[in-house]
Amino acid sequence: MWTELGVLITTLVVIQGQSTSEEYGGYRLNEIYLPSRYVVDLEVSQDVFDGAGVAFSGKVSITFEISESTDVIRIHKQNAITSLTLFSGSTPITVSSFEKYNSTTEILTIELSQSLVVGTTYTLNIEYNGDLDTTSMSGFYLSSYRTSYGATEYLVTTQFQPTHARHAFPCFDEPQYKATFLISITHPAAYNALSNMPQAQLDPINTTYAKTTFKETPRMSTYLVAFIVSNFSCSLGEVIDVDTPHQVCSRKEQAQYRDLAVRLGSVIMNKLETITGLKYAQQLPKMDEVAIPDFSAGAMENWGLVTYRETGLLYSEEDSSNSYKKSIAQVIAHEFTHMWFGNLVTCKWWDYTFLNEGFARLYQYFAAALVEELSDWELDKHFVVEQVHTALLTDSSLSADSLTSKASSQSQVSNKFSTITYNKGAAVLRMIEHVIGAQNFLSGIHSYLDTYSYKATTPKNLWDVLQRFAPTNSLPSDATLEVVIENWVEKSGHPLVTVTSSGNDVILSQTRFLLSGSEDREWYIPISYTLSNDTKGFANTSPKFWLRPGQAYTLSNAINNQGWIIINNQQSGFYRVNYDTALWSRIKETLQENHTEIDVLNRAQLLNDVYNFARSGLLKYSDAMSVFSYLKNEVEYYPWYSAIVGLNHLLQRIGYESTIGRRLIAHQLENLDKVYATVPFSKLDSNNQVYTMKQVAILTRACRYGLTSCVEEVKGLFERYKSGNSVPKNLRSIVYCNALRYSTDLHTDFNFLWDKFQSASLASEVVTILGSFGCAQDASHIKWFLKQTINATSGVRLQDFSTAWSGVYSSGGRIGAVAAMEFIAENYAELTAYYSGVGSLISTIANYFFEESQLESIQKVLNVSTLSNGHRATANSAITSARSNIAWASSKAEDVSAFLDELQSSGAVHLASSALLIAIGALAFNRGLVL
Ligand SMILES: *[C@@H]1O[C@H](CO)[C@@H](O)[C@H](O)[C@H]1NC(C)=O
Ligand SMILES: *[C@@H]1O[C@H](CO)[C@@H](O)[C@H](O)[C@H]1NC(C)=O
Ligand SMILES: *[C@@H]1O[C@H](CO)[C@@H](O)[C@H](O)[C@H]1NC(C)=O
Ligand SMILES: *[C@@H]1O[C@H](CO)[C@@H](O)[C@H](O)[C@H]1NC(C)=O
Ligand SMILES: *[C@@H]1O[C@H](CO)[C@@H](O)[C@H](O)[C@H]1NC(C)=O
Ligand SMILES: *[C@@H]1O[C@H](CO)[C@@H](O)[C@H](O)[C@H]1NC(C)=O
Ligand SMILES: [Zn+2]
Repeated sequence: MWTELGVLITTLVVIQGQSTSEEYGGYRLNEIYLPSRYVVDLEVSQDVFDGAGVAFSGKVSITFEISESTDVIRIHKQNAITSLTLFSGSTPITVSSFEKYNSTTEILTIELSQSLVVGTTYTLNIEYNGDLDTTSMSGFYLSSYRTSYGATEYLVTTQFQPTHARHAFPCFDEPQYKATFLISITHPAAYNALSNMPQAQLDPINTTYAKTTFKETPRMSTYLVAFIVSNFSCSLGEVIDVDTPHQVCSRKEQAQYRDLAVRLGSVIMNKLETITGLKYAQQLPKMDEVAIPDFSAGAMENWGLVTYRETGLLYSEEDSSNSYKKSIAQVIAHEFTHMWFGNLVTCKWWDYTFLNEGFARLYQYFAAALVEELSDWELDKHFVVEQVHTALLTDSSLSADSLTSKASSQSQVSNKFSTITYNKGAAVLRMIEHVIGAQNFLSGIHSYLDTYSYKATTPKNLWDVLQRFAPTNSLPSDATLEVVIENWVEKSGHPLVTVTSSGNDVILSQTRFLLSGSEDREWYIPISYTLSNDTKGFANTSPKFWLRPGQAYTLSNAINNQGWIIINNQQSGFYRVNYDTALWSRIKETLQENHTEIDVLNRAQLLNDVYNFARSGLLKYSDAMSVFSYLKNEVEYYPWYSAIVGLNHLLQRIGYESTIGRRLIAHQLENLDKVYATVPFSKLDSNNQVYTMKQVAILTRACRYGLTSCVEEVKGLFERYKSGNSVPKNLRSIVYCNALRYSTDLHTDFNFLWDKFQSASLASEVVTILGSFGCAQDASHIKWFLKQTINATSGVRLQDFSTAWSGVYSSGGRIGAVAAMEFIAENYAELTAYYSGVGSLISTIANYFFEESQLESIQKVLNVSTLSNGHRATANSAITSARSNIAWASSKAEDVSAFLDELQSSGAVHLASSALLIAIGALAFNRGLVL
């Protein structure tokens, strides 16, 4: 093991003699420590489980060598050290001081009176006391839940990624420092303990305490260590392999909701074994998946002990909607992918987080898609609208981060867990897969995992391996994969490919796509395309040619004078495509006449691209709307998904309640007619996943737009709910929200739902209800509700704070966003004491303002006498950006309005005149609108 580690360390590059620590502003350890083993012994007292204390104590013993002589040891720690000794074998080494601690970097400098030498094994022993975290659900923390008989039970659990292992025990807390871990925990005997490895021993200490010792782990990073002490129980599933059990654990009262996870776990793991070519059983001898009542992220891939939010693991066939089924399957696939990408082979440092998260995001679709039970879910298609489109959007801002970028401090490291890392990471990997071919990609991955097992990698390691499996003709003749991929990974942004026609020739050129501003940047872009005379072409995603930096490309004699060309089959390349007027009009015509000639994912691409071209000013909104017009014939999910994302943005900017917003909604209801008819309330089919997702998406919009028949259905279902008949599970989010939005007796309906919230114990139901209160169109109810989000005894968990608030500002229209901002002003002290993200709350809410009068609520925040300087700056810039959004919207309004006028005068829309729409205000008007 030592030589293996030595080999790894010597391959690390130290740039220009600068130490890693200096290069990373003092936040990194010098790369001279070679830890091999941790023995961690923790003790948690009965007080903790009685809700009467948060203290814990621990001892850690770290075996390490060094690669360079030194008289200081730098190590991460956070707790109070009571004793520290260092040995070489049984010989003590004098520690001159361990007082030098930087609480910003969380690095302790241990000064020695003699130098450590290369080739000797040392043992560092530290005893310490700590407090469990109770506010941020990170490190070693306390969680609790109420049982049905009213008692509160406590558990302790961990969340170490990325920089919190040091909160539980002193350690070299960087992903590259892999070692084995021998963990034991002393705890009240009535509770049980879980960790990465199976239990080796359970020793009674005395009448009340017991000590659980686990088997020693394989070599692994500190952030993947985990332990839980709880009164949970587990359900055993199918084994992953002989002697490799899989179980799902949760609080006992939720035992009935474990079936889905129990059923899917081993199946998904086995699919991943096929993809990776490596058995899970060779890593660890068991897999426990545990649902934690308080959890900050979605789930965490601790090796052998994966933790989840309850909504990410627990599922009721009767009461959880299909969207939860989808997310549970995908979260499991994501976390299990990490067993290989992240746990077995680990990003060397967080600059390269995408090496872990990009693959996990990719296979949460493409591994889950292989599961028979999920095979008709079309997860491969969902990937394009859910991941590629969101990645392109985030990547279109001048301030976007690149996939690899330097992260030093703890908060910079946390910020690497971003849309760019996950979504763009996955999208770029998918592009490479389509370039070199799926089978070659798999072979490359096998080799990468095999070569770097138990080690840490940089992106170059991956590209070099994949290069070996890339057929020569799949890459540009003059560039390696590393060269091709450089600008996609090390620079922010993505290309806009512009296609112009000249006679029968088609010319392609490139630039960076940005929503605003401009920047010179070019890429090697793989180009696939389909011509109108060969619509089967959409199936072939391997590149026909490369568009290179600095060169336009001419496709000679590609189209005749009626023909169209569509670039980027199934949007397998990570870029946008714009066409000249002539080519756009041929595409538009085809969409109008027979849209099924164009692949469904390319229809989704066209809508997403054209909307963003309007948003950036490259095209006019009227151009985008005229492409959107074909939607009146569209009944498939993916194009509608794209369209809805675009329209939601436009309506957020111009306001659902503004004059132009209402006119736009009326027009969209026309477009919605046909697809709405395909998903009636009366036709529920929860066995059909794609139908159900489409139904929920379409009905959600129809009701938000105020379509009378939709609102009437909702009211009927809510009345039945009030008389004891539960709402069909997939309609709940629509019914709860819109029953409040259109309520004629809000107080009664609101209180009814609040009572339901109080009595719900299934997490998916809790969250569905919580997300609905924001639909109420009354400021005092909204503010009362927001008060409950900062009330520790109301039943609203801190982990659900964002769900509750986003329901208010994103679904509550004018009233909701203003009430939320006013609430911040009126409850500033309490809110900031309870929730640490108030700054981003202010800017997010302001992003939903669409008229000047709403800005008064930000002024109220500015008038708070105790407002922090940071929040004052945020509020001031929120005003500036809200003003610029409002100006932007009014600059576009004319164009949108002209488009609607033209439709109206051409008789395409049977609308009441806009004057009438203004006059009737919030009342119903023809075309069946209720606002
Ligand atoms: C702690 O580390 C930070 C980051 O390197 C540095 O800015 C700060 O000056 C250090 N503090 C002390 C007391 O050395
Ligand atoms: C653990 O759960 C069981 C049954 O759910 C309960 O009877 C017992 O009191 C709990 N134990 C502790 C220590 O809370
Ligand atoms: C039992 O063991 C625990 C843990 O070591 C200790 O804190 C406690 O004092 C012991 N109780 C008795 C009654 O000896
Ligand atoms: C489609 O048109 C192109 C260009 O005119 C031509 O090269 C190609 O052979 C045609 N393909 C089919 C299947 O007709
Ligand atoms: C529309 O296009 C599809 C796919 O090319 C084709 O199968 C279908 O026959 C066309 N429909 C009409 C009405 O032309
Ligand atoms: C906080 O929640 C508790 C329990 O529901 C409730 O009794 C109390 O009135 C709430 N406090 C406020 C300020 O709403
Ligand atoms: Zn992940």
